[in-house]
Amino acid sequence: MEPITEDWKGGQFCKNIEPSKKKKLAKVLSELVLTADDIERIIAVFTQQMDMANSAKPDIRSKSDHLMENTHIRQLMDGTENGEYLGLDLGGTNYRVVLAKFKNGVADITIQNYVIPEHVLSGPSSGAFDFIADGIRQFFEKYNMKGRTKKIPLGFTFSFPSRQKTLKSQTLVTWTKSFKCPDGPGLDPVQLLEEALQRNAPDVPVEVVVVMSDTTSTLMAGNYVDKKARIGLILGTGCNAAFVENLDNIERWSGDRKDPQHVIVNVEWGATGDKGCLDFCRTKYEKQLDQLSNHPKSFTFEKSVGGLYLGELVRLMLVELAKEGLVFGGYLPPSLQPPWSLTATQITQIESDKGDDSSNTVSALKELGVSDPDADDVAVVREVAEMVCRRGAYVVSCGLAALVKRMGLAAVTVAIDGSVYERHPKFHGYMMEILGDSRFDSNTQIELILVKDGSGQGGAFAAASALRQLAAGIRCQ
Ligand code: GLC
Repeated sequence: MEPITEDWKGGQFCKNIEPSKKKKLAKVLSELVLTADDIERIIAVFTQQMDMANSAKPDIRSKSDHLMENTHIRQLMDGTENGEYLGLDLGGTNYRVVLAKFKNGVADITIQNYVIPEHVLSGPSSGAFDFIADGIRQFFEKYNMKGRTKKIPLGFTFSFPSRQKTLKSQTLVTWTKSFKCPDGPGLDPVQLLEEALQRNAPDVPVEVVVVMSDTTSTLMAGNYVDKKARIGLILGTGCNAAFVENLDNIERWSGDRKDPQHVIVNVEWGATGDKGCLDFCRTKYEKQLDQLSNHPKSFTFEKSVGGLYLGELVRLMLVELAKEGLVFGGYLPPSLQPPWSLTATQITQIESDKGDDSSNTVSALKELGVSDPDADDVAVVREVAEMVCRRGAYVVSCGLAALVKRMGLAAVTVAIDGSVYERHPKFHGYMMEILGDSRFDSNTQIELILVKDGSGQGGAFAAASALRQLAAGIRCQ
């Protein structure tokens, strides 16, 4: 398939559909196509948003949908790390506690995963933090770590848009993704965690030394395996990036200029489009999804690519196509009628079909109650899933292309964590259709690598580097 189609002419799966039906399908599906001009324009939007967020002038800065937060983390991994560090990774419906035992820069990792129940996600934030603190207590019990006399440094990966005040304090701007506690914005997640630890685990010997987003921790974990890793990208429930920025490029820099002359900056780009800069390419389905989401009119860009949203985007298109009589004989199966009934896992299943073999799509449809899908239905479902995912991958690649251009390096590795990148069999390929296309070339050799569990492990790694940075007396403000 052509990397960027100017119009939808039948796709690879719908070749055999009868021409008049194909014409009607084209009318609906064409809305999803991003042309080369759209791609150029989206890259320019990301560049402009990053520039504005980097401005020292508050009135310009406030026009941007990005934060470009100085994370205060200057040191990457240098291979001299020793000792034990903890990571706490909170960002979705799960959270993880990680123990990294370093010996001369090599880490031995223990990870424990905990599921946060729905009622905790929508209850008071103190309840959510109590739940997390209790998980830390359980972790210490399980691994017989309670009797330590020395506190273990902890790096807290807190993956919600926040303003960074110091290495270990932030202010939450807003909840996103599955979190909808009635309070939290304006509060400091580290303080909330420390108070919850006092209440639930006063004898657990931990000390929070750094707080960061999952993009930053993934960058740290990527840098542990590949020294060229200078960008951390999350492609999971949500989507965001962080990168290593030269101090000279930061207009608001007020820290010292000792070596290393760089700092990690968290772009916080999920909200791109909230003030309208992506209106020229938003689809009807993206707008419908926004209305149905936990946080309407917020995190516009993230809703085109995040794992929380891909299934619903496909479902909304199938609703439209069924209404037009172009799929399922015009009747949407009951299992697909409730919003959010189609998940990213099912989309991944559909997208794992190769060539003419549609067996995974047929199984997914059968599980959804479509007992005997005809060939056209299977073709349409595969086409819609592919178009939605490719579109999401293209948009996030535009953000990356803008970032890579800004950094101007000869080569860069992008460390990626998150379920969409990890599990979707074609996402990497879709992204490379943009990142490897000479029309959008930044003259940088780009490598995308999966850093599984990077967001949790990197939290522990950042604790090690934060202590090294503090010992060296490096100031970030
Ligand atoms: C959301 C959060 C951001 C995080 C991303 C990926 O966009 O606001 O901080 O990095 O999700 O988890």
